[in-house]
Amino acid sequence: MSIQCPRGTRDFLPDELEKRRAYEGTLREVARRFGFREIETPIFEEAELFILRSGPGVLKELYAFKDKGDRDIALRPEMTAAVVRAFVNGMSNDPKPIKVFYFGQCFRYERPQAGRYREFFQFGAEIMGSATPETDAEAIAMASSMIKALGLKNYKIRIGHIGVLRQRIADIGVPKERTAEVLQKLDKKLYDEARPILKEIGVKDEDAEALFELTETVGGVEVLSKVPGEAGTYLQEVVDYLDRMGVRDLEIDLGVVRGLDYYTGMVFEAEAPVLGAEKQICGGGSYTLSELFGGDKVFSTGFAIGFDRILLAMEKEGIVYERKGIDAYVIAVSDETRKDAFGIVAKLREAGIAADIDIMGRKIGKAMKSANTTCSRYAVIVGEELSRGCVTLKDMQSGEQCEVPVDEIVAKIRN
Ligand code: HAM
Repeated sequence: MSIQCPRGTRDFLPDELEKRRAYEGTLREVARRFGFREIETPIFEEAELFILRSGPGVLKELYAFKDKGDRDIALRPEMTAAVVRAFVNGMSNDPKPIKVFYFGQCFRYERPQAGRYREFFQFGAEIMGSATPETDAEAIAMASSMIKALGLKNYKIRIGHIGVLRQRIADIGVPKERTAEVLQKLDKKLYDEARPILKEIGVKDEDAEALFELTETVGGVEVLSKVPGEAGTYLQEVVDYLDRMGVRDLEIDLGVVRGLDYYTGMVFEAEAPVLGAEKQICGGGSYTLSELFGGDKVFSTGFAIGFDRILLAMEKEGIVYERKGIDAYVIAVSDETRKDAFGIVAKLREAGIAADIDIMGRKIGKAMKSANTTCSRYAVIVGEELSRGCVTLKDMQSGEQCEVPVDEIVAKIRN
């Protein structure tokens, strides 16, 4: 019987994981430059946390179960609700704004396909305790910097305002409890499916059509003049700040609805068209959640990058990761020098040099191959020159080699 990993999950073998860790490091570095600090929350939470305000889309994908103590538990489908819970529990008195970032796996019971997994990774950030256009601009600017830092070329950032749609939906007579259902259809631009729902609620045909037209307000910054109410002025401010920060590759799209239910104002998404159906690589916006978890109402803005998807988009754009490898591979030419070779590898490691050595009694030819497969920069060959207190240092890239006194190898490799 062969056991595979569960559907929609993956093993990350060393080559893949090294690459992922390197790109995760790039994102961490951007977060650090923007003044964010890291936070970690549990992978599972009380199910209630996600049920309260996630919206129907996420709910039907929730991995929920009873634990042995009969508690309702869920694997986190996203991390915002958990971060807000942690804020209410332990950070609410800290000076505002609170800027945190996180990286970790999330779980959604979706139908797996390219770019869509049941276990996937998000790199996200939340700014809590501020409700200004500057806050929203800061979040979008960091998302944009992260995408750029990874080297992705072909992507689009679309900014909308869910408050405008929510207001319009309320104005035309849709009751609160049916708003999410209508928004879900608008999100996917499924107007034919939205029409009968609105009709059943009693919304006038012309109001329904005007609502669809509103979600089709798409274009450059100039369409902001068509955004009704204060939202237009607000988004103009956000865009002005972004402009000063050099973030100009933006589109306005009032049809950005988001799959989660907690957003209240500005919302945004980034997509990489190269990914086809699952092209959304990042999503976020402003929201309030803390009042649902027993805290005061605190305005926040955040986003999460779909780490797996953005890596897939980079791969499709031909961005190649080069394996780092080790610094030195120590090779004993014969059994006579084998034990001394272990003494030398130990010295290198102690000096902070990444060094490996053959432990399978291989002859020099095969050991040299191992030096290649570990992508070592140098081979340290321990042969008869050891009687003179020297080893042979071979540059694996150029093939050049020279004799080096044993107590100078560390310095030589460091240089
Ligand atoms: P979300 O749009 O549901 O937002 O997820 C963020 C990103 O996670 C998506 O844009 C997508 O790239 C990735 N993603 C979602 N589902 C999957 C999946 N099944 N497989 C692979 N990638 C996936 C949130 O989760 C919000 N918490 C973002 C946020 C933070 N809003 C405010 N703060």
